[in-house]
Amino acid sequence: MDERYQLWGGCFEEEPSAVLRRLNDSLSVDVRLFREDIRGSKAWAAELYRSGHLSEDDNKSIQQGLDIVEQEIEQELSINGRLRDPEEDIHSVVERRLREHAGEAALRLHTARSRNDQSATNTKLWMMSSLERVRSEVIHLISVLLKRAQEEINIIAPGYTHLQRAQPIRWSHFLMSYAWMFRDDVCRLEEQINRLSSCPLGSGAIAGCALPIDRKKLAESMGFKQVTPNSMFAVGSRDHIVEFLNWASLCGIHLSRLAEDLIIYSSQEFGIVEHSDQFSTGSSLMPQKRNPDGLELVRGAAGLLLGDSFSFCCILKGLPSTYNKDLQSDKEILFRSYDRLLDCLKVTSGTVSTMKVNGKKAESLLEPGMLATDLAHALVRRAVPFRRAHHLVGSVLRRAAALGVDIRHLPHREYVEICPEFGSEEELRKIFSWEASVEQYTSEGGTAREAVLSQIQQLQNWLLNYKDTCDKMQ
Ligand code: ARG
Repeated sequence: MDERYQLWGGCFEEEPSAVLRRLNDSLSVDVRLFREDIRGSKAWAAELYRSGHLSEDDNKSIQQGLDIVEQEIEQELSINGRLRDPEEDIHSVVERRLREHAGEAALRLHTARSRNDQSATNTKLWMMSSLERVRSEVIHLISVLLKRAQEEINIIAPGYTHLQRAQPIRWSHFLMSYAWMFRDDVCRLEEQINRLSSCPLGSGAIAGCALPIDRKKLAESMGFKQVTPNSMFAVGSRDHIVEFLNWASLCGIHLSRLAEDLIIYSSQEFGIVEHSDQFSTGSSLMPQKRNPDGLELVRGAAGLLLGDSFSFCCILKGLPSTYNKDLQSDKEILFRSYDRLLDCLKVTSGTVSTMKVNGKKAESLLEPGMLATDLAHALVRRAVPFRRAHHLVGSVLRRAAALGVDIRHLPHREYVEICPEFGSEEELRKIFSWEASVEQYTSEGGTAREAVLSQIQQLQNWLLNYKDTCDKMQ
């Protein structure tokens, strides 16, 4: 390998120490931005040429040279998985390799540009397309949840608060509660993607660009909607990364809560859900085991995502303005969180789409005490004030416990003795039905069939409109 090509060092007499090199080198991480680096460099050269700072021939050599460099790197990465170049970062690698193909012209590429605006631009370009990928994965998960919710509308399951049996709910209502969470995640991500679209290139190291260039044209040529309004802000801000890490943490928290529910529901004690072979693992010792490792890893990943977001905020806190080398870690953290979240989204979609739901088992977990609220509502419909009704039903529960029966089998005369408004035996019997219970909750957002189907429809319409708008934007 030829000597290390360095973009700086003219006024240095000695080489940097090996240990500083090791700490400073970022190629193993920022190699992932080679396409963006080349794309940015091509746009920069084209703008230098357009504004009269680069000859036509030099621009041509640079454009062609960069295409070759891109192919080379692509090929080497596909064979070796990494670059063996001795340079400190991807910017230096691209420039050294460009020299081999474009000769002297390569020395003009970095005119009025700094690695500060270059690196910020690369990362933003990468985020613009990568965040769209995350968005598609979240959309896919929403579709998976929607499909199951549609198919499993007849299943009635226990709903829990404090993990104690609360009220019967439609299983689809439970699934939809997560689908809506992820819908909000998509909306929040969308806002970030829009904010992200402002191009730092042309900000130089700190002060801007001393050559007259058209930053707007330059930005548009790379697909940005606008340009950053202040060069110091442009090179020193990593707020877009903080936003994404925070977003990923919240999305991770949502995934983790869903994972926890499905882990609990797949335990033998619940048995509502059985995970597929594809998305469970076994035990090396206990042959009967089917463990929800994927979901447990998703649950754990939420903690790691939160850690990443916190550690990056710690890096930023107290930094003096503009570029400081501390910022170089932004990519390591960003890529790590991004990769982790993408895997978690895929594992969750796969788990949800392949799991088996045992409707009969879900129904068998319902117990009559979960209808106590419905008894109170029956009294309210007969003009008994709710607080009094609540206490009266409490007396019913106590009486049933004293007699060693559940509320379904408490004799009718006991009910009437506690409160005549409980009505006839026939009327009481109607309350003791899971179906009748959930069907009372017809108001918007409730668990009655009609209300759940309407939510499903609403979210499906949103998805259709959304996909339509996205297709048009591309
Ligand atoms: N590798 C650096 C980073 O990603 C590029 C910027 C270097 N700038 C500098 N002034 N040393 O942050």
